Amino acid sequence: MLHIRPEHAADAAGIRDVHIAAFPTGAEARLVDALRSNRNASVSLVAVLEERIVGHVLFSPVSIEPKISSVRGVGLAPVAVRPEYQRQGIGAHLIEQGIDHCRRAAFDFMVVLGQPRYYRRFSCRRAFSAGLTNEYGMDEAFMVLELQPGSLRGIRGLVRYGAEFSMLET
Ligand SMILES: CC(C)(COP(=O)(O)OP(=O)(O)OC[C@H]1O[C@@H](n2cnc3c(N)ncnc32)[C@H](O)[C@@H]1OP(=O)(O)O)[C@@H](O)C(=O)NCCC(=O)NCCS
Repeated sequence: MLHIRPEHAADAAGIRDVHIAAFPTGAEARLVDALRSNRNASVSLVAVLEERIVGHVLFSPVSIEPKISSVRGVGLAPVAVRPEYQRQGIGAHLIEQGIDHCRRAAFDFMVVLGQPRYYRRFSCRRAFSAGLTNEYGMDEAFMVLELQPGSLRGIRGLVRYGAEFSMLET
């Protein structure tokens, strides 16, 4: 049976393996390690099947420029499921439960860079229409979800991911 739970200290190697299997390079695995060691893994969940970690999702803090301290946001990245377990709904379970954790942790909004068709099923919408831009020049693929009703009202600006994300660009 599939079990989704917060990551434990002993999960680091299993999480690394998931990202190495799911992505073409080790960049996402290194990103997760960096976010964790900098204490920027705000919500980190694993999907466990028969005692094996088969999926992982991480949410880390993002900021808005010009600086707005009244709202706290997170970015969903990375998310991965081992290739042999993809398209069975595990990614969706991880994301839904991750969003729930972020909401309960009182984050105000979540952003994600990804396939709009996929993320719309979690009620994400085009961030640009909500007045939010990103540093990667993405439009349709940059999406946002209000975690607390009305929290983005009147909020405009450039969303910045943590410095750790620069390692994905090299
Ligand atoms: C994206 C990912 C986590 C989805 O996990 P999953 O368990 O297969 O997801 P689900 O079973 O809930 O949903 C499957 C859907 O994911 C969609 N999907 C979204 N983003 C995708 C991506 N980058 N690569 C492949 N499929 C993706 C597929 O189109 C599929 O939609 P469909 O069922 O309508 O055809 C998984 O495909 C994966 O690990 N991909 C490689 C890593 C990656 O690209 N992560 C996202 C960027 S951080």
